[in-house]
Amino acid sequence: MPLDITILVGTMTATAQLVGQEIELKLDDDGDTRARARLMDRLDASVFAGGGLFLICTSTYGQGDVPDNAKQLYESLQTVRPDLSNVRYGVIALGDRTYNETFCNGGRRFDAILQELGARRIGDILLHDASAGTMPEEVAAEWIDGWVALCKENEDSLARERDRV
Ligand SMILES: Cc1cc2nc3c(=O)[nH]c(=O)nc-3n(C[C@H](O)[C@H](O)[C@H](O)COP(=O)(O)O)c2cc1C
Repeated sequence: MPLDITILVGTMTATAQLVGQEIELKLDDDGDTRARARLMDRLDASVFAGGGLFLICTSTYGQGDVPDNAKQLYESLQTVRPDLSNVRYGVIALGDRTYNETFCNGGRRFDAILQELGARRIGDILLHDASAGTMPEEVAAEWIDGWVALCKENEDSLARERDRV
């Protein structure tokens, strides 16, 4: 069974959207994974109903806030507070180290609320620094292989646990 991954994109000027699209293409080319990238616009906490595997790909704006198109989803998680124990996720956080106090806080905020609601993060957050001179879509395309490998290991150990019961 291929791994099904929903990529949720929070963006202001479409950098994170490009990253999400590149990852979607790359994962769809790999027969072991299926991916769908969606902008966060108009989404709310119900996008996580039914659980599964998610990749949050978001930039940071304002004083370390999530971008405008991510606000409704983020605020909905804070108010509805669904049980997300059947959700596993990764985070690609785009930011800029010149905002050193709030570097990549958009992604970190999603990470914090998802953990609070019982979701399990797979792997470390990918932090991309726009001032470093690297292309986020290239950095993310390299990082994603390791993340997918961790997701597969996680699936295998969940399947072994299910078999034992
Ligand atoms: C007005 C403005 C505010 C920003 N605030 C932050 C911030 O607080 N922390 C941070 O790490 N990056 C901050 N950034 C950098 C963006 O998150 C970064 O450039 C990102 O790659 C933009 O992605 P996007 O085009 O998908 O929105 C800010 C950028 C702008 C233009």
